[in-house]
Amino acid sequence: MSLEAYFGNKHVIVTGGSSGIGLALAETLVRLGSEVTLVARREGPLLEAKAKAEAARPGARVHVLPLDISDAEAVQVGLTPHLEAHPAQMLINNAGVAMPGRFLEMDPAQYRQQMDINYFGMLHMCQVVVPHLVAQGGGHVCNVGSLLSVMGIYGYSAYAATKFAMYGFSECLRAELKPLNVRVTMLLPPDTDTPQHAMEIAHLPEETKAIAGNVKMLSAQQVADACLKGMEAGRFDVVPGMDGRMTVTANRWLPGVARWVCDNAAKKVSGARGEA
Ligand SMILES: NC(=O)c1ccc[n+]([C@@H]2O[C@H](COP(=O)([O-])OP(=O)(O)OC[C@H]3O[C@@H](n4cnc5c(N)ncnc54)[C@H](OP(=O)(O)O)[C@@H]3O)[C@@H](O)[C@H]2O)c1
Repeated sequence: MSLEAYFGNKHVIVTGGSSGIGLALAETLVRLGSEVTLVARREGPLLEAKAKAEAARPGARVHVLPLDISDAEAVQVGLTPHLEAHPAQMLINNAGVAMPGRFLEMDPAQYRQQMDINYFGMLHMCQVVVPHLVAQGGGHVCNVGSLLSVMGIYGYSAYAATKFAMYGFSECLRAELKPLNVRVTMLLPPDTDTPQHAMEIAHLPEETKAIAGNVKMLSAQQVADACLKGMEAGRFDVVPGMDGRMTVTANRWLPGVARWVCDNAAKKVSGARGEA
C-alpha cells in the first residue's frame, strides 16, 4: 500500500508535534493527506507549527491541543471532547524530554521528571486513545523511543530507563491489541538534529559524546520518513538509518562486544582526564 493510501484521510494525533521529529511527522502527514492534531504544552509554538503544517497542503485540517501529557486529568479532560468531535485512527506518542548526566552528579528529581513525561505521558495518551481506536474497530499507535530503549550507555541512566519502560509497555500492548486490529509500532531513533538534541549536547558528559560519535546523526525529516514507512509496513521495531540498525543488531546479538566498544570510547576520554 502507498503511504498516501495508508495515512491519507486518517486523523493522526502527534504529541510533541510543535518541534523536531514531531513537527517533521506532522508536515509529512499533512502532505500525505492526513488530518492532524498537534499536542504540546506551549500554545505559541503549537500555532507556529500549525501554520507550517497547513502550508504543506492547501485545505489541510490541522488542530492544536495545548496540554501537559504528564497530567493524567488534563489529558482526559482535553482529549475526550476532541476525539468525540474528531474521531482519530492513529496516535504517535512522540513528546519527550532528555536530560543526560552522570548518575553520581544527577539531580535526583530528573529521574521522576523524565519518567513522568516520557513514560507516564505516553501511558496517559494511550489510556484515552486506545479504547477509542478499539471502539472504532482498529487503528495504529506508534511510540517514539530511542536507541536507548534497547541499550544503556554512559550518561543516560534517567532517560534510558524511561525509554526501556516504553519498550516493555509497547511489546505487551502490541500482543494485546493485535487481535483487536490495532497495530503498535516502536520507533527507535538515533541522535537526531532537533532543538532537544542541541540542548542535550550542552549537558553531555565527554564520555557520552565519545560513544555517541559512533552513530551518524540524522535529520528530523529522515526519522519521520522512516517512521511512517515502518508504520505502513506494519513493523513493530523501526530503527531509522543504517548506523542505528547496525547498533541495535550488534547490541542484540553481541552485547558483550557492544559494551566493550562503548567502554573503550568512554575510557579514552576518562583516561585523558586522568580518571582511568
Ligand atoms: N533528538 C534526538 O536526538 C532523539 C533521539 C532519539 C529519540 N528522540 C525522541 O524523539 C522524541 C522527540 O524528540 P525531539 O528531539 O524532536 O524533541 P523536541 O524538538 O524538543 O520536541 C519535543 C516536543 O515535545 C513537547 N513536549 C515536551 N514535554 C511535553 C509534555 N509534558 N506534554 C506535552 N508535550 C510535551 C514539546 O513541546 P512543549 O515544550 O511546548 O511541551 C515539543 O513539541 C522524544 O520522545 C525524544 O526522546 C529524540
